[in-house]
Amino acid sequence: MLFVLGKGGVGKSVVSASLGLLAAERGRRAIITEAAGAETMAALFDREPVGYTPGRLATNLQALSIQPGAAVEEYLVRTLKFRLVYEMVFRNRFVEPFMSAVMGLSDLITVGKVMDLEWERVDGSFGPDAEGPNKYDLIIVDSPATGHGLSLLRSPQAMMDVTRVGPLFNNARLIRDLLADEQKTGVVLVTLAEDMPVSETIQAATELRERGNVHISGIVVNGVVPPVFDDPATAECWDRVRRQGLELGGAAAESVRDAERSLRDRNRAEEHIARLRETLGLPLIELPLLSKRDLDAKALAELGTVLGAWS
Ligand SMILES: Nc1ncnc2c1ncn2[C@@H]1O[C@H](COP(=O)(O)OP(=O)(O)OP(=O)(O)O)[C@@H](O)[C@H]1O
Ligand SMILES: [Mg+2]
Repeated sequence: MLFVLGKGGVGKSVVSASLGLLAAERGRRAIITEAAGAETMAALFDREPVGYTPGRLATNLQALSIQPGAAVEEYLVRTLKFRLVYEMVFRNRFVEPFMSAVMGLSDLITVGKVMDLEWERVDGSFGPDAEGPNKYDLIIVDSPATGHGLSLLRSPQAMMDVTRVGPLFNNARLIRDLLADEQKTGVVLVTLAEDMPVSETIQAATELRERGNVHISGIVVNGVVPPVFDDPATAECWDRVRRQGLELGGAAAESVRDAERSLRDRNRAEEHIARLRETLGLPLIELPLLSKRDLDAKALAELGTVLGAWS
């Protein structure tokens, strides 16, 4: 299971989709789950919304949108056989928001649903001790923006702290242990090579490390402007020309200004990336900024290929 975490708008969904395509391309059965009823994948792959039952995005790649309401009902009624509690509490429009907020129940149940997917086997059997190959080789969780994403990962421990015994406690402990299992679970932090997202990434990584309950697999720096010059010789040549203070007019001057601007952007991005590397010392990969406005399946596959260099 890979939890894809990051600040709002940095490209979590794009990275989730690219990772999913990469795995599918390599013959793995992958599924991308979205939290809080989001349906970004359907839009990215130009499909109808997938809803709460897995829907197909591409060969070997499925998606599922976890709707907290449906997940809470399924969990309480099916897993814990709490139909009465469910009817009493969650059908009551005054109590429901209160319960969900105070107990962080919908966060817990969202990660619980992810754990269910991890427990599913090809032959239809289910559970931590079920045998046979997993139904999904890779489960990617396109998480909500950082704060809420972190609270998803925190939710099992939070539930254990408030319940202490009973079925909710036991279930939360199973989820917590699965998250803590390095062999099974990792977090991918997505950021842009910019000041605020980098600071937020460092903060999130520090918090995750301090809590020590989930392994950080690595960092994806998304939307990075590519190096301006492909080879060092050209870069050197450019430097020499600039040092000579050549005065150019017209179109040439404009090209020079464009190149200078790109160089400045690239240098700034490199500084942010260096800061991430030095502060966190985690595996890191850069994804290029693509010029397309709306990224289609082809662009996502292109980014997937870049991510392929990682593993
Ligand atoms: N490498 C890239 N090159 C060009 N455009 C990109 C790239 N990555 C993401 N985008 C664009 O940036 C926007 C935000 O990306 P995305 O939706 O994946 O972010 P997000 O982190 O999932 O956002 P949210 O927090 O709202 O869920 C989208 O319009 C997407 O097409
Ligand atoms: Mg998103």
